Amino acid sequence: MSNVYIAPSILSANFAKLGEEVADVERAGADWLHVDVMDGHFVPNLTFGPLVMGAIAPLTNLPLDVHLMIEQPEQYIPAFAEAGAHVITVHAEACVHLHRVIHMIKERGVKAGVAINPATPAAAIREVLEDIDLALVMTVNPGFGGQAFIPGTLRKIRQLNEWKRELGLSHLRIEVDGGISAETAPLVTEAGADVLVAGNAVFGRPDRREAIAEIRNRVK
Ligand code: DX5
Ligand code: ZN
Repeated sequence: MSNVYIAPSILSANFAKLGEEVADVERAGADWLHVDVMDGHFVPNLTFGPLVMGAIAPLTNLPLDVHLMIEQPEQYIPAFAEAGAHVITVHAEACVHLHRVIHMIKERGVKAGVAINPATPAAAIREVLEDIDLALVMTVNPGFGGQAFIPGTLRKIRQLNEWKRELGLSHLRIEVDGGISAETAPLVTEAGADVLVAGNAVFGRPDRREAIAEIRNRVK
């Protein structure tokens, strides 16, 4: 498959020199920058909010791919939109009124994504596929970088890709997040994923250009 984006996740970056880390992966050939926002409730970890993201935004030309692992994401959508988000992804599990939240994102001129955890079926987002720009299949349980890829999630990527074709949604991106590396990249891209988030596999390596190239070379 061509046109696969690689989105390094700053969760695995050195936070003490975040600006340099972002510049480094941009030079190294990243397509998007993945920004993991955690609230300590939806997931058992805490990261950062719109202030930190707003500090990064002017330092890079990379589109900011914001992954909200938070409860009641609707409360923070305006702040992340203003801080410069290109895509805002909310979790289906965190939204009672998912359709409303998606449109709240789009009304601000930001692309809308919906994520599903490993235990959530693809059918949970079937009714909103025509409303969104990105479907994010979590390939680990969200909360931490450096976890092992869950192979059972490949079925859901295939299912979403089938629906994408059936519905003629050529603009819809299918993103995967968690345990993506040069080893798992061919599996997920063969199943239909076209945005690959990679934390540890990029920021965990001294040479980020080499790390990104290794993943890109394995894409199907
Ligand atoms: C996990 C985050 C991921 C994480 C991926 O909850 O959503 O974006 O940074 O890290 P790796 O690629 O190391 O599994
Ligand atoms: Zn993420």
